[in-house]
Amino acid sequence: MEAQRIDGKAIAAEIKEEVRQKTALLKEKHRIVPGLAFLLVGDNAASKTYVRSKEKACDLCGFHSTTITMPADARESDVLDKIGTWNIDPDIHGILVQLPLPGHIDEDRVIEAISPRKDVDGFHPVTVGKLVIGQETFLPCTPAGIQELLLRSKVDTAGKHVVVVGRSNIVGKPVANILVQKAAGANAVVTIAHSAAEDISRYTRDADILIVATGRVNTVTSDMVKDGVVVIDVGINRVDDATKERGYRIVGDVDFDGLLKKASAITPVPGGVGPMTIAMLMQNTLRSAENSIAP
Ligand code: GUN
Repeated sequence: MEAQRIDGKAIAAEIKEEVRQKTALLKEKHRIVPGLAFLLVGDNAASKTYVRSKEKACDLCGFHSTTITMPADARESDVLDKIGTWNIDPDIHGILVQLPLPGHIDEDRVIEAISPRKDVDGFHPVTVGKLVIGQETFLPCTPAGIQELLLRSKVDTAGKHVVVVGRSNIVGKPVANILVQKAAGANAVVTIAHSAAEDISRYTRDADILIVATGRVNTVTSDMVKDGVVVIDVGINRVDDATKERGYRIVGDVDFDGLLKKASAITPVPGGVGPMTIAMLMQNTLRSAENSIAP
């Protein structure tokens, strides 16, 4: 039987609608409008597109948003000063510095300048540390979106073997840390496999749930998994395709067509994990605004 396709676009729309409704209540009861500030440095076309999509989601949810754009040669001190003003601005509940930053700016220093109370991206070392030791905190958006996809698709993780392929700070490491927690929607036995493995199939073959975030096309093919595996594909890759008007198509990190026959469920690309990232950003920002309610 063909695998169930996990519809991330529909689930993300459902979450944004929930956020919109809760935002309306927050406004009515407490006169608080969630506010999200974006900082975009330089001319990276993909970054501009991402920020525009996030601004649109803010509008949809009823948030206030503001975007500051700085030139590619902006000084690091200007970036840090802007973050400093947002840190103490009561109308701003979330701060998002779109990455990557130009090479002369120290990304770690910039991320550490964001108040952990407004770190809706979940990248600050304090936020990451809390996640690892199981304290309540903002979860980074893509890993949180993966957990939410599994939950809403009724994929039980407790006691299951989750194999994460990829060890990035944005996806691999945090998603492994979320799913290993002794908590609802987690409690999995987690393996992180990565590019140093001699034969990655040694690990993928044992996965009940396989999360692939390598940025490489066809990292996992159907001969590398067992029957009934649940596959979460985090990849977004362009491959040449002369049949398309724009000359390329977007594919993930796994061989989707091959795995469709072997998996019990799988996320498509596009329309799987991708849309979840922005939905979870909206959820984090709403939570930050709720946290600001005076006791
Ligand atoms: N660049 C690529 N993904 C992300 C993200 O989730 N947040 C930020 N701030 N920058 C990114």
